[in-house]
Amino acid sequence: MNNKRLKTPIIALAFCLFAACGGGGGGGGTSGGKNSNPNLPPAPSLPDPSSAPALKTVFAPYFKIGAAVELNQIDPSTDPADVALLKKHYSSMTAANALKADTIGVGPGQYNFTPADDLIAFAQSNGIAVRAHTLVWHVTSPTWFFTPDPADLDKTDPAAYRAQVRQRLKTYITDVVTHFKGKVYAWDVVNEVANNTADSVYRTDSPWYQAYSAGGADGTEYIEDAFRFAHDADPDVKLFLNDFGTEWPDKRKNVLAIVQDLINKGVPINGVGHQIHSNIFLQASDVDAALTAVEQMSSGLINEITELDLSVYNDGSNYGLTGPPIATLSKQAKLYRDLFSIFIKHDASIDAVTTWGISDAQTWLNSFSVIRIDRPLLFDRDGNPKWAFWAIVDPTIVLP
Ligand code: GLA
Repeated sequence: MNNKRLKTPIIALAFCLFAACGGGGGGGGTSGGKNSNPNLPPAPSLPDPSSAPALKTVFAPYFKIGAAVELNQIDPSTDPADVALLKKHYSSMTAANALKADTIGVGPGQYNFTPADDLIAFAQSNGIAVRAHTLVWHVTSPTWFFTPDPADLDKTDPAAYRAQVRQRLKTYITDVVTHFKGKVYAWDVVNEVANNTADSVYRTDSPWYQAYSAGGADGTEYIEDAFRFAHDADPDVKLFLNDFGTEWPDKRKNVLAIVQDLINKGVPINGVGHQIHSNIFLQASDVDAALTAVEQMSSGLINEITELDLSVYNDGSNYGLTGPPIATLSKQAKLYRDLFSIFIKHDASIDAVTTWGISDAQTWLNSFSVIRIDRPLLFDRDGNPKWAFWAIVDPTIVLP
């Protein structure tokens, strides 16, 4: 963030805005098309995809721009469209699953680094930086971390059981962070450790919290341990607490309370990852407030947007393959535009903005929380730039 003094206002790139340029893209009801009312000007059409600027170039003055990626998306024989998009547009990549403990942590002292190594090799050969996600997440921590040895140790000697789990955490983090030292610029050390509501600060349904609570000990200490072990293994990599819902005031308070506690204890934490899995009804001002709150806590803290996607749904609808009305995609584009203008305003603290996926063809929201076609990202199901893309690369472009 120190090299951001020479900022230029976002470049208003010259694009073909109107129908005369050819309504490329299309796909899933995304084109503007003619207005049926002859008294109104024609609705704008999507610009020609071939005129799309590279996201990484547009946002280079401000922050890295990233996408979460699965292994199939780096293989030109299975997914040439995503490979091309990655190479053209992104300066950062997050392994969607390859660096999680349920992939890497085969057993105590046993690792499967191959998927992550393959992703990192792809990134390196294409000049893409890698942010690593994630060391400690209750959803993807294999049970071997918590299995007492001998089997009743947790009952016979809770303190020894706790020490055993702590040692496994230390060995895992030390070995994994050492393996990727120099190859990744950031680690999400802990993921989703805050409680969602105002009644308590910490998530207590995590097996880490529960194992560390053995014998009445402090269940929250796994968090500071994780940061210290990671820092000891690689003092240069930036260490993050990553969570969803920092845009909700109660959740944000909990996240900030945990960060403040870590800072007070002298724990090496570099910043907060804001997932921002949300939908088109999100208030951009709530994201602004989250970024500001982190900045106000300590001027040294980094903000990263780590998992951005904006579902077109906030209810049980399903637009299917036809896609939502153009007004919905326009609303999404306007929200992306507002968010990116907030990110640019906060660029002194923001190091990277990452979307959770590349195109609408492969997004977790197509199967979560129900199976349906969602369209939360910047590129459509054919890999063409959506209105959301054009809205952020050119704040002056007229949306339909
Ligand atoms: C969470 C996790 C990510 C990913 C997404 C969606 O936010 O942090 O690793 O699993 O959910 O799949």
